[in-house]
Amino acid sequence: MQIRSRIIGLGSYLPERVLTNLELEGMVETSNEWILNRTGISERRIASEEEAASDLAYNASVAALKHAGIKKEDLDFIIVATVTPDMLFPSTACLVQYKLGIKNIFSFDISAACSGFIYALSVADQYIRSGIYRTGLVIGVDVFSKVVDWSDRSTCVLFGDGAGAAILQADSGDRGIISTHLHSDGRLWDILYIPGGGSRTPPSEEMLKNKLQYIKMRGNELFKVAVNTLCDSISEVLKFNGLKSDDIKLFIPHQANLRIIQAVGKKLNIPLERFKINLDVYGNTSAASVPIALCESVSEHMVRESDYVLLEAFGSGLTWGAALIKW
Ligand code: ACO
Repeated sequence: MQIRSRIIGLGSYLPERVLTNLELEGMVETSNEWILNRTGISERRIASEEEAASDLAYNASVAALKHAGIKKEDLDFIIVATVTPDMLFPSTACLVQYKLGIKNIFSFDISAACSGFIYALSVADQYIRSGIYRTGLVIGVDVFSKVVDWSDRSTCVLFGDGAGAAILQADSGDRGIISTHLHSDGRLWDILYIPGGGSRTPPSEEMLKNKLQYIKMRGNELFKVAVNTLCDSISEVLKFNGLKSDDIKLFIPHQANLRIIQAVGKKLNIPLERFKINLDVYGNTSAASVPIALCESVSEHMVRESDYVLLEAFGSGLTWGAALIKW
């Protein structure tokens, strides 16, 4: 009998504070029109001063546990995908475990930026498929508002904060995660990165003066790579599983830029209506973007039992990947 991991519960958390394009007009030299035309983003959520990644992740986890209808004690492991952890160590996953108040499990973080949730989902899927563990909590969370330079208009308009969580459980039916596909190309590491604060350039007055604690991005180059990697990921999943794009009920792409999603749809001849899009209200929430979009799609009944859903993402690393789920 084949064991699959099935998502039995989803939850998300978005901070209360809404930051609109109009407010950004007062912060940097930009316009609502530029942001909307170039990205599709109208507003994004911003974490409060007191909120860190583990707080957002905890709230999403509580919602996912409730949705799944299981007890936190049923969990065997927690995997958190994030590049904006509360601190360099311990892992944000251990802090979520602490906040949930559970013992006798294992918890760790995965660093794959915006592809992080798909990476984490893939790892969790291997644990469950192998029969070693039965139930896992997988979280994508990022708080980019704390690592963007709010005086750099080329990056600060793009990102938002949020968390999405999924509970995976072993299932012997034909529903669940069908396949996951992960890729990376470290040669492109400097297309999107934070230079300072790690062991390469530890915190110092010099580092802060040069603003090395903030995101550096070559947006234009990244745009082209994003379109290609997303197209490749979708094609790979379809080919691997002997499916056509028409067999997929809903495509859930990483929510970076509406123009990226439009370009992918055009290249693969998939109408835009078949893609879940919520970047207009949340911006790019990095590792949280795919699970938040999946959570919304399910609660809005855009996905029903036995539908095929295809998740795909790209991010710093460069990393990219996809997952096919039979809902
Ligand atoms: N407001 C007004 N003008 C701006 C802004 C702004 N916020 N930002 C840039 N501009 C200007 C530029 O200075 C430039 O001016 P110039 O022509 O006088 O030099 C002009 O607008 C065009 O800039 P481009 O960078 O060429 O604009 P582009 O159309 O490429 O859009 C964008 C920029 C939105 C960043 C796009 O390239 C993009 O989305 N790239 C992908 C980014 C991405 O996906 N990042 C997340 C990756 S996932 C992860 O791991 C977190």
